[in-house]
Amino acid sequence: MAANLPNIIIAIDGHSSCGKSTVAREIARRLNYIFIDSGAMYRAVTLYCLRNAIIFNGIVDKQKLLTHLDAIKVYFQLNPQNQHNDIWLNGENVEDEIRLLEVSQHVSPVAAVAEVRHLLVSLQHEMGLAKGIVMDGRDIGTVVFPNAELKIFMTARADIRAQRRYDELTAKGEKVSYEEIMANVIERDRYDETREQSPLRKAPDAVVLDTSFMNREEQLEWVLNLVSKI
Ligand code: CDP
Repeated sequence: MAANLPNIIIAIDGHSSCGKSTVAREIARRLNYIFIDSGAMYRAVTLYCLRNAIIFNGIVDKQKLLTHLDAIKVYFQLNPQNQHNDIWLNGENVEDEIRLLEVSQHVSPVAAVAEVRHLLVSLQHEMGLAKGIVMDGRDIGTVVFPNAELKIFMTARADIRAQRRYDELTAKGEKVSYEEIMANVIERDRYDETREQSPLRKAPDAVVLDTSFMNREEQLEWVLNLVSKI
């Protein structure tokens, strides 16, 4: 499979915290592809907004955001320590900071701003020019790469997703409660699915993967099996 696989685009979309990035990263590693976490790009813009008082009391000041858009430089750079493509914001590696719950709690309204999406989608198109990528997000199979050769739509039960994200954040030492994570998972799904711009939808030709009762190894096997059929 992997040895003869032509360079294709693999699009993985789905609900929050269902394991998309973990599977996507591992698939990319096995295929010698580039993994692109598009959610990290939206999170980096959100971090910029939080730091520059563009979000106040949970409300995004859209006019202010638009005046700052040219100053927001978001890009990936290889981290030689772990070979991950880390996300950078204006010269700073923000890979860890963008995962904080505070960023998760503000990202959806920022990602709903059309101009933010235009900016990030054009960067994502550039990254996909040579193909050989696995990109995960919300609109990859529907809007960013509607011609992707393989599309997967991942989901899982909300309580299971919340538990996984809770375990992940507490393992990193973040003080969070299961209840606030659960509320964020539900609210982000609702916001992402009902926004006007590129709402989260399963592409008609995407294959659904429900990871509720699958461990990481089983999820990986499932996707590799699909890839082997291309
Ligand atoms: O990893 P997790 O499921 O928590 O989310 P993420 O992939 O890091 O994405 C964070 C947020 O960015 C999502 O809740 C969406 O609001 C937004 N996003 C988007 O609008 N479009 C994408 N292609 C990727 C993320």
